[in-house]
Amino acid sequence: MPDVLYINGRFTTTDERVLGVEDRGFQFGDAVYEVFKFLRHSPIFLAEHYERLGVGLREIEVPNPWPDVNAFKATMRELLDRTEFDDGIVYIQVSRGEAERAHFWAEGMTPTAVAYSRRFRFPDAAKKERGIRVITAPDQRWRHCDLKSVNLLANSIAKKKAQRAGADEAVLLEEGLVREGASSSFFAVIDGRIITHPLDEHILPGVVRDHVIDLAIAAHIRVDERPLREAELFTLGEAFITSTTQGVMPVAEIDGRIIGNSRRGEVTTELQRRFDELERAAQ
Ligand code: PDD
Repeated sequence: MPDVLYINGRFTTTDERVLGVEDRGFQFGDAVYEVFKFLRHSPIFLAEHYERLGVGLREIEVPNPWPDVNAFKATMRELLDRTEFDDGIVYIQVSRGEAERAHFWAEGMTPTAVAYSRRFRFPDAAKKERGIRVITAPDQRWRHCDLKSVNLLANSIAKKKAQRAGADEAVLLEEGLVREGASSSFFAVIDGRIITHPLDEHILPGVVRDHVIDLAIAAHIRVDERPLREAELFTLGEAFITSTTQGVMPVAEIDGRIIGNSRRGEVTTELQRRFDELERAAQ
C-alpha cells in the first residue's frame, strides 16, 4: 500500500514519481525539511514544526508555501485524514524549486512542497527503559546546523558508522565539545542538573529539546545550557537524547563505556515520563 503524498497543492500517493531531476532540492540540497509525529491521527507539536520551517525558509529566502499556520494545519489535517494507519510520522520538504541547473538561482522561483505520511515503529517501553548505545564521531557538518537543511550527508555518514559499531546514534564532537546527536539533541545529567548545548549555529533547535527544558524547569531540575566537554562524557551519571521519533531516550553506553549504574537514571526517567504525558496531552 503506497503512502499518501501531498505535492504542491494536490494529493497523490508515493507511487507517483513527482519530482524533476533538476529540482534544486535534489541537485543542490537547496531545501529544508521537517518531521512531525502523529498518534491516533493527531499531529503532535504541529505549530512548533511550522514555526521552525518558517524560520528555515526565511533564512534561505524561499517563499513559504503555507502563508500561515492554519493553512499548514489544514494541509496536514487532510494528509492525515487520507492516511490509513493511526500512528506514524510525516516528512515535509520544501525546496527552492525546479530550474535548469545553475548555482545562481533565479529570483521568484516556485518552491516544491512535498509531505507524506509513513508508518513508524516508535520505541516500546522495554527500549525506553534499556536505552541506546552511542558512539562519538567528528562533527563534519557545515556551519549552519541550526537550519533543518536536507544536507544530511555528514549526519548519515556518522550514523552509518554508529550502526556498524552496533550503536544507534553518533554524538558529534567538534573542538573537544559535544554538539548534538546526528539526528537528535543530546543531554547530560551531572549532579542532578541537565546540561545541553546552547542554541546557536552548531545545533538544531529541537522541538523536543525545547519542551524537555521547559519540563525540567517545571520539575525544579536545574538546566545548564552550555557545551559539554568531551572529557566530561565519561563521567556522567546519566545521559539521554531527544527527538521527534525517539522522544526522551536514555543513553546506556558511549563508545562501549556504560553510563551511570547501567540502569535508566532518575532524572531521565522523570523527564521521559513528563514528556510522554505532554505528548499524549498534545494529541
Ligand atoms: N531529526 N538534531 C538533529 C541534527 C536532528 O536531525 C534532529 C531531528 C534533532 C531533534 O529535533 P526534534 O526534537 O525537533 O525532532 C536534533 C529528525 C527526527 C530526522 O531527521 O528524522
